[in-house]
Amino acid sequence: MSHALLQPAAQSRIEAETPADADGVEALVMAAFGPGRFAKTAERLREGSRPAAGFVVREQGRVIGSVRLWPITVGETPALFLGPIAVEAGSRRDGLGADLVAACLAYAADAEIEGVLLVGDCPYFERFGFKLAANAVPPGPVDRRRVLWLGKAEPVAGPVRRA
Ligand SMILES: CC(C)(COP(=O)(O)OP(=O)(O)OC[C@H]1O[C@@H](n2cnc3c(N)ncnc32)[C@H](O)[C@@H]1OP(=O)(O)O)[C@@H](O)C(=O)NCCC(=O)NCCS
Repeated sequence: MSHALLQPAAQSRIEAETPADADGVEALVMAAFGPGRFAKTAERLREGSRPAAGFVVREQGRVIGSVRLWPITVGETPALFLGPIAVEAGSRRDGLGADLVAACLAYAADAEIEGVLLVGDCPYFERFGFKLAANAVPPGPVDRRRVLWLGKAEPVAGPVRRA
């Protein structure tokens, strides 16, 4: 059992995403990942779906950090899929990424779900308590070493689907 979902939210710089942030989020994500992101397996979990939640960091009205959470199931387990997460290049290594993840984990702790799944770099996300989800199977080709889970129920297993 992990209790890491219960860690407190970052207070200061993180705000809930609003519809007015959509263009800023899109521009930030395109700059961070490039147009190829739409081919990624992670995108299949998001297309045609609406985010359960989104968080942003704004600087003088501009979006400089963003993360979204999407409703999914892993096998029969209700969960949230985290991504994309991006911080503007000039604002990195100042803890904004960690604050965005903390906001997601606080949201997840209050939601009726069992945990958070993502496809990302373990060297970055393991600091928050994410661990390899060897038996979670996202749609399409994916590097299995990048499928990570943090939740109340462990281990999690089965096909990953949009909820
Ligand atoms: C990943 C990202 C969101 C982190 O944002 P951030 O605000 O710089 O994060 P933090 O300030 O909380 O943490 C920075 C630390 O994480 C490290 N880090 C960043 N990306 C990393 C990665 N992919 N793997 C390992 N470490 C990473 C940095 O080197 C830095 O280390 P330091 O504290 O020793 O200097 C940002 O680098 C980004 O937008 N990258 C491009 C998009 C991306 O790759 N998204 C994640 C998909 S896996």
